[in-house]
Amino acid sequence: MDPEKGFEQTIERDQRIEPRDWMPDRYRTTMVRQIAQHAHSEIIGMQPEGEWITRAPSLRRKAILLAKVQDEAGHGLYLYSAAETLGADRTDLTEKLIEGRQKYSSIFNYPTLSFADVGVIGWLVDGAAICNQVPLCRSSYGPYARAMIRICKEESFHQRQGYELLMTLMRGTDAQREMVQNAVDRWWWPSLMMFGPPDADSTHTAQSMAWKIKRHTNDELRQRFVDMTVPQAEALGVTLPDPDLRWNEERGHHDFGEIDWSELKRVISGDGPCNAERIATRRAAHEEGAWVRAAASAHAAKAKTREVA
Ligand code: ACO
Repeated sequence: MDPEKGFEQTIERDQRIEPRDWMPDRYRTTMVRQIAQHAHSEIIGMQPEGEWITRAPSLRRKAILLAKVQDEAGHGLYLYSAAETLGADRTDLTEKLIEGRQKYSSIFNYPTLSFADVGVIGWLVDGAAICNQVPLCRSSYGPYARAMIRICKEESFHQRQGYELLMTLMRGTDAQREMVQNAVDRWWWPSLMMFGPPDADSTHTAQSMAWKIKRHTNDELRQRFVDMTVPQAEALGVTLPDPDLRWNEERGHHDFGEIDWSELKRVISGDGPCNAERIATRRAAHEEGAWVRAAASAHAAKAKTREVA
């Protein structure tokens, strides 16, 4: 069969494209772009919360946070492996990240000012990530879709730990409740921006939907997230910082206020509150880890020689 027809049929039948299957160059490029950005987000995403590991208020919270940040590293590694199945090179992807030639999620360019931010990241940021990533378990590229299943299970756990942390703080003192509200006020709008630009301005959505890489548009997922989060905020006892947020009976959804898209553009183009710091930290970790990579490669080469002998 004509390979292009085979590709189209696989997509049409809702089956998966596998690494050795023929695929259009643009499909490959799009998949590498999305998977690499996603992997970079997981790796850079270790930083904002990682900063609180040494300052966690109890041994229990420290152990939970440490495990969570390690999970994010694991997610990054599965995703780099998925990108490698498309012919991408991990070293090259890392170089592109630290040289600012590849993107990562805007959300990780905001500072974590208090321990409540750890809870709010779990609740809102990981909540948004789940909303966006559960449909990606049905993404048309097999290795990506399969990686997403495990990642989503772990993200759900992260989301619950964040919510549990916040419930604990909300049962505490007035100062603790204020700390939670302050964190919610700072993270709410950036969390909505995680879903990407509005559909009308999204470069890739139409093609990615046609190829079934994406199963829903940016705006559809953003709306789903708002609808899901409003009752959780009520249960928690916090106010979402949007005077226009209200239930719309006719639409069967919540209406919400205008997002400041100029802020998203600024943060994506490198001018967010912590962009420079995040990249500098990643670059330093990469450079300081060079001897570990060299030692691991030397060990692997030695082991291979031994196998042959
Ligand atoms: N932060 C940074 N860049 C973004 C963001 C964002 N929140 N949203 C969109 N962009 C970028 C896109 O990557 C694209 O840039 P490019 O053309 O240079 O590659 C551009 O803005 C236009 O956006 P879209 O056309 O809407 O891009 P796309 O169709 O890829 O949709 C989305 C963006 C929704 C983020 C999609 O790529 C996706 O679902 N990715 C997988 C999930 C993911 O990466 N999550 C990371 C954060 S979650 C976490 O790590 C906990």
